[in-house]
Amino acid sequence: MDRVIRIGLLGCGTVGSGVVTILSREADDITARTGAKLEVTRVAVRDLTRQRDLPLDPSVFTDDPATVVEADDVDVVIEVMGGIEPASGLIRRALTLGKPVVTANKELVAQQGPELYAAALAAGVDLSYEAAVAGAIPIIKPLKESLAGDRITRVIGILNGTTNYILSRMTEEGAAYEDVLADAQALGYAEADPTADVGGHDAAAKCAILASLAFDSAVHGDDVFREGIESVTAVDIGVADRLGYVIKLIGIASESEDRVAVRVHPTFLPKDHPLASVRDSYNAIYVEAEAAGELMFYGRGAGALPTGSAIVGDVIDVARNLLQTARGATESQHRAKPIRPMGELSTRYYVLLDVDDQAGVLAEVAQTFGQHDVSIAQVWQEDTDGSARLVLITHRALEDDLRATVDALNRIDSVRRVTSVLRVEGEILG
Ligand code: NAP
Ligand code: HSE
Repeated sequence: MDRVIRIGLLGCGTVGSGVVTILSREADDITARTGAKLEVTRVAVRDLTRQRDLPLDPSVFTDDPATVVEADDVDVVIEVMGGIEPASGLIRRALTLGKPVVTANKELVAQQGPELYAAALAAGVDLSYEAAVAGAIPIIKPLKESLAGDRITRVIGILNGTTNYILSRMTEEGAAYEDVLADAQALGYAEADPTADVGGHDAAAKCAILASLAFDSAVHGDDVFREGIESVTAVDIGVADRLGYVIKLIGIASESEDRVAVRVHPTFLPKDHPLASVRDSYNAIYVEAEAAGELMFYGRGAGALPTGSAIVGDVIDVARNLLQTARGATESQHRAKPIRPMGELSTRYYVLLDVDDQAGVLAEVAQTFGQHDVSIAQVWQEDTDGSARLVLITHRALEDDLRATVDALNRIDSVRRVTSVLRVEGEILG
């Protein structure tokens, strides 16, 4: 096999190391499958003094990523640095030079997808980003290619490994939030700034990418309604458990009445919902399509080797295309659907209140819900020290009405605090 495709790696942290490991470990099969040897010739990192236990010659490392992109001995660029700049400029330059790019950068694709797709199309080369959504799980290709003949109506998934890991351990072990977050960072699941994970930004970026592909529309990361898991407490998890639910950070993209709704938030999921049993750093994505019906994609959503697997798969794809002077499937945004405002969403809610333990409070609270057209399905009181905890589950209600209810509750003297408001998927239990 004479042909060699030379790879320039931008970044060699968690994911970059996974890529190098797989390329080395599976080299013979990868060469046979690709029809060319894949060789890492240049690697950009920030810190050249850091010890990296990888099968790479020290001479390949540089701290100047632009030289990797420009180098004559780089045919394909893999971007696993993260962040918007310099990653965006480097990717655009590589495409302009006619070099295909593989990236795991969901933040960038969610923000600049349409411009980057256009740059790749203009250059006639591939821009692939399977690893950007749900780590090892093949989901970009199924949406872009396998389901290209179908009409997708809804995509719902657990899209962030770090938060799923945290919520799983809080639920199963009663572990403290801060301890499990530190473990998720040590395991390489978390983003460089873990607030991207726990604040739901990472899942929102992934949800925007999935919605864009599912509904042929340019959905930007900022279009996604987002709430993170920072305010989910052990009390919420306990209530959910007693009622037959688990709390998961869920991304939901759906199309109805010619508009696209995209949202990420912690959600009460019935324990028998298929996504409820997705634990640890695993991700899962449900796709509902007119012709295909329901499809479920499940696997590791984060970590060096799972994410590296998706990247190497993309690299083999773009290398095969390079050898045939071809390029892969293009993103289509021809339907250009508008985004439905979150206030128009209709769902069920769990509301937790700390109230004075005195006569008439429950009646006043119930009246407030009623005045705002939010119907209560279940309500009960749990006594705590000196006050009372009211737990309410509503019937389906409009988000705007629920928000108005919460504002009004906050103005009632005997309501000390609206402690939690979470959305509930599925039928009411109990
Ligand atoms: P990481 O461990 O922080 O690695 C980032 C790498 O990029 C490091 O090698 C760093 O150099 C290098 N780097 C950053 N800025 C640079 C600059 N200006 N110049 C040269 N090198 C630079 O991050 P990661 O977890 O591998 O994530 C990388 C990307 O993959 C992100 O877009 C992330 O969202 C995405 N992703 C991550 C996962 C995951 O499980 N971690 C999964 C899917 C997608 P040093 O090594 O010298 O610091
Ligand atoms: N930080 C991300 C997660 C990595 O926890 O899912 C995978 O995109």
